[in-house]
Formats: sequence, C-alpha cells, structure tokens
Amino acid sequence: MSPLHVTRTLPEDATDAALRADVLNGLTVTPKWLPPKWFYDARGSELFEQITELPEYYPTRAEREILATRSGEIAAASGARTLVELGSGSSEKTRYLIEALGSLEAYIPVDVSESALVQAGRALVEERPDLDVHALIADFTAPLTLPATPGPRLVAFLGGTLGNLLPAERARFLASVRSLLAPGDGLLLGTDLVKDERVLVRAYDDAAGVTAAFNKNVLAVVDRELGADFDPDAFDHVAVWDAEREWIEMRLRSRTAQTVKVPALNLAVDFAAGEDLRTEVSAKFRREGVTTELAAAGLELSHWWTDEQGRFALSLSVA
Ligand code: AVJ
Repeated sequence: MSPLHVTRTLPEDATDAALRADVLNGLTVTPKWLPPKWFYDARGSELFEQITELPEYYPTRAEREILATRSGEIAAASGARTLVELGSGSSEKTRYLIEALGSLEAYIPVDVSESALVQAGRALVEERPDLDVHALIADFTAPLTLPATPGPRLVAFLGGTLGNLLPAERARFLASVRSLLAPGDGLLLGTDLVKDERVLVRAYDDAAGVTAAFNKNVLAVVDRELGADFDPDAFDHVAVWDAEREWIEMRLRSRTAQTVKVPALNLAVDFAAGEDLRTEVSAKFRREGVTTELAAAGLELSHWWTDEQGRFALSLSVA
C-alpha cells in the first residue's frame, strides 16, 4: 500500500502573522473588512458543514448532483492521471471524480487544514492502495510547487470558493493555476450562478440562523487569537445582494456606537451605530463571464455542466 505523503509548505507561524496583518489592515480602513479565510477554525468549519445541509443553501447539493451524474463525462474529457484538488477539505465530493478517473495514479489534496487533509488522505489510501496520495498543507492562493506525478493533470477547485475572491484576486489566482498546467492539462471549476435575489439572500441568511452564527464566529476567532473583546451579540448578521457586482456580501452590523479593543495589536477600533464590517463576498457567475475570465488566464473553456435546475455550474477548461 503506498503511504500517505504529507508536505507542509505553510510555515507554522504563518497563520498568526497573517491574522494579525489582516485584522490590523481590515479594521483600520473604511469600510472595515476581514478576509473570509478566518471563518474556518474548528467551530467555523463545523458550522459550515451544517450550512451545507440547510434547505436554503443549495450550492453543495447542486454541485454534488453534477459530480454524481457527470463525472464519467468529466473523466472522459480529461483523461487525467493526476488529480490536484485546491481547498480539498473533506474530499467528500471528489470521490465521484476519483472513482470515474480510471487512469488516475496520483491525488494531491491541497488545504490549510492539516487535520482535514490527513483524515481524508488516510481514508483514501485505505480504500485505494493503488493511488499515490500527496497531501499538501498549503494556502492554495499562494504559488504552489506540486510533486512530480504522471500527466495529464486535472486541477479541481470546487464549491464555488472562487467567488470569495474579488475580480483582481480571481485573475491572479487563475493565472497561478494556469502556471501549474502543461498543455493538455485541465481545470475543473465550480461556480455558483446568478439567480433570483431572494433565493441568493436566503442561502446566506437561513431561517435557523446557522449562517448568522458562522458569520459571527469570525469575531470569536479574533477574540481568542488576539485577545479582542468583540461581543458577537453587539453585531447583527447581514446578507445583501450587490446587483451591480453580482455578489452576495456578508456583513456584521454594529448595533450601537462601540469601541472594540484588540490588545495584541495595541488597537482600539471605533464602530458607529449601524456601521458594517464586511466579512465575505460570494460572487455569482454567468457562463460568458467565466469563459472570459478563464480565457484571460490562458484557459479555454471546453465543457459546461449545470445541475437540473441550472443553479450551479462545473466548467472544464484546458491549457
Ligand atoms: C465555501 C466559500 C463556497 O461562499 O457559499 C457559505 C462559504 N458563506 N455560507 C460560499 C459560505 C456563507 C461558501 N464557500
């Protein structure tokens, strides 16, 4: 049985330094903002798993439907012998792909969470002793060095997480993915699609309040890691659709005028009553826009699959 290879390129103290920089920068500009990566401590990851099962949150079900019904076509079009998955998490969705890719010899899950990678990697090595599994503990938005494995390669970036990046960040990210690909390699990209505003807002502001708890959890992360005194009850969860930019914005709105102290940064942050802290954008896409953004990165869209209801899309593009 081939062993599970685990490589850490993310420096151990990267998280602390990055969080300090993001909080210092994000809370001293107007409008205030924090990058969504900080949602995902253990509690945030658990809350996100709950979100994926909410009736209002359709993206995970829609993407799973596409993978369950189209993985044969994806495999036939790709012929990959190596599958690289960016932001692999539990690798649960990827099983469809791995099963369908008959010529697969190597799987390279990439994630910042060592525990998720090792857990998923161990299970896969058990099930598929023929596969060479190289888990990379890395930030997929930073330049990656991949182990030498047989081509052609298929890089998968699923879940619609591309939408968390602002347009300029997406262009940089897609260009860095392109640099990982040799001619004939492919990118399998999950993108949530533009749709009725009410459906979109409900998916980010569910009746049970799970997304509200997920959103507020970032305040608990800053409190725990930097000794801040954010009171989650002093902020309201807000999800709004920006029709011009075609993205959902999640915000935390200060209920009153208040000052939050962040001792680790020697910082006192004033919030006006009603002032918003933006915690995430989740961009929604159209086929034309995805085609254009991929082309700008040197990738030609060759296949476009959606779920039955046309809510979410997987695209395959080729270098
Ligand atoms: C994991 C980034 C794809 O943007 O839909 C879910 C995160 N935020 N509910 C998304 C999220 C609020 C999710 N992604």
